[in-house]
Amino acid sequence: MTSLAQVGMGTTLAGVALPSPVLTASGCSAAGRELAPYLDVAELGAVVTKSVMLRPRSGRATPRMAETPSGMLNSIGLQGPGIEAFLEHDLPWLAARAARAVVSIAGGSVEEFVQLAGRLVGAPGVALLEVNISCPNVASRGQVFACDPRAAADVIAAVKDAADVPVLAKLSPDVTDIVTIAAACVQAGADGLSMINTLLGMAIDTDTLRPILAGITGGLSGPAIRPVAVRCVWQVHAALPEVPILGMGGIMTGLDALQFLLAGASAVSVGTAVFHDPSAPARVARELRDALADRGIPGVADVVGLAHRDGRR
Ligand code: SIN
Repeated sequence: MTSLAQVGMGTTLAGVALPSPVLTASGCSAAGRELAPYLDVAELGAVVTKSVMLRPRSGRATPRMAETPSGMLNSIGLQGPGIEAFLEHDLPWLAARAARAVVSIAGGSVEEFVQLAGRLVGAPGVALLEVNISCPNVASRGQVFACDPRAAADVIAAVKDAADVPVLAKLSPDVTDIVTIAAACVQAGADGLSMINTLLGMAIDTDTLRPILAGITGGLSGPAIRPVAVRCVWQVHAALPEVPILGMGGIMTGLDALQFLLAGASAVSVGTAVFHDPSAPARVARELRDALADRGIPGVADVVGLAHRDGRR
């Protein structure tokens, strides 16, 4: 039996040491400020910010969120203040609290991604970049770079050249073979992978007889997608065991997080759970620590990819 105090919660993600394996998920808690009344952002592995674009953007028309069984659809459309406001207001707020930032960037072209990475060079508190090549809520599926290995690789190679911190490629589950896309990103220089973004979905209102979301389709998140996410992490870890993975998709509890670590993730992001429990990232970390102690596992590093090994404990 490992005592709670003995459990090592530190992890390393793409060469970056984090005090906890539990991070926020991009898009679910802006740049962390909204969570501050509920948890200490410095105690999280990191705050993964909402994807930032070059210019301010109002996003798609409303309604753009809908509840579904065990899940949530969103068609936000990358609403945000743009990189200059982000650098002026959001990043300094995180840095002042000694929180690590994983900055998610989104662009409509390779050049936009490069400009974003360039603006973030030397910015305070940036631990990693998460390159959002998989947002489902863009005008054209051609802009979902993560659906094509060459397009994904082009973005990652260019960002890697421009960035001064390790780069994670955020992958979409809406592909035939996620391992092909993962391998293309790694070959292009990605230091790690974030997986998964939401699945493209839709819901229709049976009273109005019309799609619920103004944007018609949206990204499905929440517990409904967790088995898909665990499967993606498992497949990529099996094929590319040396590649660091930040796992996400419907994590609500410490045991959910443990599944991702066992599948091969070195850290996890908690997203949709914060909409009904803003303290969820901190709670999930506590529950994960308890689960490791209960199982006599000394620390997070001992469990990463463990489910792939022959034989059971
Ligand atoms: C959005 O802003 O539309 C969501 C971003 C994403 O899912 O990547």
